[in-house]
Amino acid sequence: MKPVILAGGSGSRLWPKSRAALPKQFLALTSDRTMLQETIGRLSGTGAEKPIVICNDSHRFLVAEQLRTQNIDHGGILLEPMGRNTAPAIALAALHALKDGNDPVLLVLAADHLIKDNTAFHRAIDKANALAQKDYLVTFGIVPDVAHTGYGYIKAGKPAADGMLVEEFVEKPDLDTATKYVASQQYFWNSGMFMFKASRYVEELEKFQPDILNACRAAVDSESKDLDFIRIDPDTFKQCPDDSIDYAVMEKTKMAAMVPLDAGWSDVGSWSSLWETADRKDENGNVVIGDAILEGVNNSYINAEERLIAVIGLDDVVVVETKDAVMVAHKEKVQEIKKVVNKLKQEK
Ligand code: GDD
Ligand code: MG
Repeated sequence: MKPVILAGGSGSRLWPKSRAALPKQFLALTSDRTMLQETIGRLSGTGAEKPIVICNDSHRFLVAEQLRTQNIDHGGILLEPMGRNTAPAIALAALHALKDGNDPVLLVLAADHLIKDNTAFHRAIDKANALAQKDYLVTFGIVPDVAHTGYGYIKAGKPAADGMLVEEFVEKPDLDTATKYVASQQYFWNSGMFMFKASRYVEELEKFQPDILNACRAAVDSESKDLDFIRIDPDTFKQCPDDSIDYAVMEKTKMAAMVPLDAGWSDVGSWSSLWETADRKDENGNVVIGDAILEGVNNSYINAEERLIAVIGLDDVVVVETKDAVMVAHKEKVQEIKKVVNKLKQEK
């Protein structure tokens, strides 16, 4: 089993900590290790091979440094000259892994998720591995609690080995549809982690998205090695269509399977999810990181990097202070940070 760590996202919902130059996966948000370091660290004990990390070229030194300081032995850092989303990123990793004549089962992981229960996670990996050996494209399903429209939804079907077949995979449905799915109790959220043989992913891509496969094949054929880094040729990769694995393959394949995952998973999609999943809250339900004085404040998330934060008489707020920006929001409105980030981009 070969881990493939997707570390190329931009993570704009955690602004002002997460920036283009330092996105979420490279921040220490849930412990003193960064999300990337946590993601690889939690595989210890699974017998996994050395991971392939795939990220944007501009983050290569961050990745190399974060692996080095944790003594993480890796199986190559693949550098994308530009982001083309997850379907191509995984294709590059799969084709690269196939190059030496083996056909490993890939465990594709997002570099920016939180999983609290490692034992339950490892158990789910074993079950998924058994299904992947049988040629399935395996997902890890989470029992949903709200009609979140930023997730993929999986309708579980008949049992298969230690999991189930997938009857339907719907990426990011609209709110009405998501509400129906959650009410039906027949759907799981897609956690965004996958397991399949490298060759099976390539075959499915060939069926459904030959343009992506051809572009990635040409790019991997002309990849070049530069110290620890494997560079993907920009002129070739530029031609590749942009799509996620969810739309490009998982919605279309007939061979999807699912293993349920109950391991305290979160994709840490917002500041409010960091509040929700925090292990330590004060007696008023506040999460406080750094230097802060709170008076009459409840159920809030306060994160001070450089300066003291004082908050008086407010509930359900998020305050995040960094060297050059301070963000104050209602906890239920933190999704709208995207609007701020878009405005900032326009001003540039
Ligand atoms: N290398 C690389 N290149 N990594 C990428 C790229 C890319 O172009 N784009 C995204 N990633 C990484 C992100 O850093 C993240 O770790 C992971 O791939 C998933 O990308 P997101 O952009 O965060 O996807 P999403 O959150 O919209 O949706 C996915 O995850 C949900 C669960 O969190 C889907 O798989 C959904 O179905 C799923 O529910
Ligand atoms: Mg995500």
